[in-house]
Amino acid sequence: MPGIRITVADGPDGFDRAAADEIGSTIRACPRAAVVVATGRTPMGPYARLADDLSADATGDLRVFQLDEYLGIPRSDPRSLASWTRRSFVEPLGIEPASVHWFDAMADDPDAECRRYEGAVAEAGGFDLAVLGLGPNGHLGFNEPPSDPMSGTRVVPLTEESLASNAAYVPGEPVPTEAFTAGLDLLLATRRVVLVVSGRTKHEIVHRALDGPVTAQVPASFLQEHPDLAVVVDADAWGA
Ligand code: F6R
Repeated sequence: MPGIRITVADGPDGFDRAAADEIGSTIRACPRAAVVVATGRTPMGPYARLADDLSADATGDLRVFQLDEYLGIPRSDPRSLASWTRRSFVEPLGIEPASVHWFDAMADDPDAECRRYEGAVAEAGGFDLAVLGLGPNGHLGFNEPPSDPMSGTRVVPLTEESLASNAAYVPGEPVPTEAFTAGLDLLLATRRVVLVVSGRTKHEIVHRALDGPVTAQVPASFLQEHPDLAVVVDADAWGA
């Protein structure tokens, strides 16, 4: 797998450290990077570590893009992925609010909103860095299976597996059933991808994604062909 570096980290501290180092090295080398960042459970420790490592000087010029968002959930709603991105990444890293590109989850015309998002990414010169988690079904962002590599930015119905994992993020609340996602086309064209994967429940899917056939049924498997992919995986997910 040319272009792929896999770090297997021991324990939560080792995982957070290794992932923060991968993300931080790109930010230090490219302070004006256009960065697209996942929410979810996995990158939370790495983001906290990154915020400790980097001063606002290092992050003040970053341009940040939201990776995905629930359709019809306003940005101010604590369930929104925008508020999660703000709490976990934008604020701790001292990123200028004006440098963050959000999805407008309340847009009257979601397709036009997707075209607007793609236009903003194009204007930024494409993504320099994507920090991605791995869905239980192999999704990246909310590019649910099947997603071909040219899939554009769009609104997708969430699969049962994604609904079940998202339910854990908002206990006791109704789980949104549709979401905007940055297209797989944009994610695969990103100059450098850091994929973070942890926990025993990801064991099978991480190996299907990295060692299995490249297929739309496992959207993350297209990363096998990426020229600059860093995978940080913990020993629980990677296995013996
Ligand atoms: C979240 C996102 C998702 C998650 C994935 C893994 O913005 O894009 O693709 O990264 O579902 O989620 P966790 O880390 O909670 O297992």
